[in-house]
Amino acid sequence: MRIFLDTADTAVIRKHWDTGLIDGVTTNPTLMMKAGRNVDDVYQEIKDIGVTDISMEVVGSGADMINEGLRLHKTFGQCATIKVPMTKEGLLACRTLFGEGINVNVTLIFSAAQAILAAKAGAKYVSPFVGRVDDNSFDGIELIDQISDIYTIQNIRKTEILAASVRDVKTVSDSFASGAHVVTIAPPVFPQLFYHVLTDHGLY
Ligand code: G3P
Repeated sequence: MRIFLDTADTAVIRKHWDTGLIDGVTTNPTLMMKAGRNVDDVYQEIKDIGVTDISMEVVGSGADMINEGLRLHKTFGQCATIKVPMTKEGLLACRTLFGEGINVNVTLIFSAAQAILAAKAGAKYVSPFVGRVDDNSFDGIELIDQISDIYTIQNIRKTEILAASVRDVKTVSDSFASGAHVVTIAPPVFPQLFYHVLTDHGLY
């Protein structure tokens, strides 16, 4: 049961890292753009904080994704988890990188069928976007349930479910209850996990 932070803000990561309760970090191009810094500098700083699992997203053609994935793995070592999109090219890149012993996170998962293909392509993680499924009037937690059931029935152990697009406390616990191995959360949600009104009440 691992908690990742979904951010490229190194100050925020540093602040929460000290709790000893964070297990990894996921980034994406939008978060990198927000950080407004050289991408490799950001990864290096996250690695220097002590984070051992950092999802680094690659873009472009299949060849671009493979080459950038290989470069990132060479530069940052085993802490680099290469994040590819759930497309045909993304899964081909996943297969190739997996063959090189590199961990891959297949992102933008919106159906159980996609999670099946990503597992077959050798993904270490599949990232269903719980919040965005909910945004579109479907049930994000039901998607986690379905993927978890399929992986259990089919005895898929090497691919883990990483619940993404998680924006509130309840979705964190619901995701784990439904079988997510990892939940990556927007940083403002992390301090909220500590809080309960009755705990505060009981302190005085
Ligand atoms: O991990 C994916 C995440 O960054 C997307 O979150 O809130 O934009 O759906 P959101």
